[in-house]
Amino acid sequence: MSKKIQAPRGTYDVLPDLAGERAGLESTAGKILGRAGYGRIETPTFEATQLFSRTVGEATDVVQKEMYTFQDGSGDSITLRPEGTAPAVRAYLEHGKHKDPQPVKYWYMSQFFRYERPQAGRFRQFWQIGAEAIGSADPAVDAEVILLLSEILEAIGARDVKLVLATLGQPESRAAYREELKQYLRAHEDQLSEEVKSRIDLNPLRAFDAKHESTQRVMANAPRLIDRLPQEDLDHFAEVQDLLTAADLAYTVDTTLVRGLDYYTRTLFEFQSGALEAAQNTLGGGGRYDGLAEQIGGQPTPGMGWAAGVERMLMASTQPTPVEPPVGLYVAYEPGHKTAAFKLASDARRAGHSTRLELAGRSLKGQLKQASRSGARYVAIFGDEGVQLRDRDGGEDKLVAPETVMHHIRGSL
Ligand code: HAM
Repeated sequence: MSKKIQAPRGTYDVLPDLAGERAGLESTAGKILGRAGYGRIETPTFEATQLFSRTVGEATDVVQKEMYTFQDGSGDSITLRPEGTAPAVRAYLEHGKHKDPQPVKYWYMSQFFRYERPQAGRFRQFWQIGAEAIGSADPAVDAEVILLLSEILEAIGARDVKLVLATLGQPESRAAYREELKQYLRAHEDQLSEEVKSRIDLNPLRAFDAKHESTQRVMANAPRLIDRLPQEDLDHFAEVQDLLTAADLAYTVDTTLVRGLDYYTRTLFEFQSGALEAAQNTLGGGGRYDGLAEQIGGQPTPGMGWAAGVERMLMASTQPTPVEPPVGLYVAYEPGHKTAAFKLASDARRAGHSTRLELAGRSLKGQLKQASRSGARYVAIFGDEGVQLRDRDGGEDKLVAPETVMHHIRGSL
């Protein structure tokens, strides 16, 4: 026998049990986002590689190590999307949506691809629910967007959730700050982990994220971006906080919050859950990306959004799995009556009844066992004398003509 082929590492199958849970999450998110004026979008699974390298950032782990990039038949470099924000902005620009009333609000539930080390809550193909509000720089957009994710997490009963906020300011103040931080890191190079040391030039901010103890000690006294931001950025951040407070949403400010994507400006946030393992405890997060549209050749267009991992949300959720509708009718048959049984099952389904038909050639005894296992209210048994109709909720079996079965069960299912 040849070797059994299995699903690639870091991927998983959505079998019906799991599909039910996911459908529940999708419908909850769709309702909450729809009420706030978000329309659903779906962009292609693959995009031009540059869409991500220019926005997510050449120096990020996502672009450097995690993208599934290949050349297609015409020699173009194509990437399986690692995230949904750049595609959403690309679609907005490509369809001239700046002409619509701003902000334009999109949401999605789609699959994404990152070559990461698989572990609980971290996959190579994973799903995100995301929301993007494109075309307004108003801090009320930031607050609204954050509240929507909070509302979804609350609706699914996500456990032990904490909102962490930060601000990054604009690219100019960030660039000056990066230089200052690089100098600080160089001055303390001997105490830093090899990884942080090797990335001082490429990505000095990641040093705040280091798990290495002596690096953490150095970072405790490192200069903070928030102390270097111009007043208008601080005002923007203060207004976002005021609006969240007005909406009774609790948060903590963590000025060292770093996210793995380079396109963020100003507001940055994450919802973390204590119910998940520390390394993968972020249910979802996002922020402002006011420079992204220009990075991909569009007019300056501010934007704000988030994405949350479907797998992690389900892991943290306490919402009960939706129950399947009960089976109304089970159609069994004796040899020679298959066609008539088949016809009744299809008529019953067409009339809206949840119906099961014997499909595996079982004996009548085996069929009746299946009927009781299915929990069907009615069982119709086709035989030489006609149809024996059994109401499993009590009552006598009735012998009825095949064409009257629907009449007998109508009204009670
Ligand atoms: P992100 O932080 O890279 O942001 O991903 C958002 C969420 O997706 C994470 O918090 C996590 O729940 C989930 N996630 C990410 N990678 C994986 C993985 N390998 N396996 C399972 N779940 C994962 C973004 O993707 C941005 N596009 C968010 C955004 C939208 N910012 C502005 N608008």
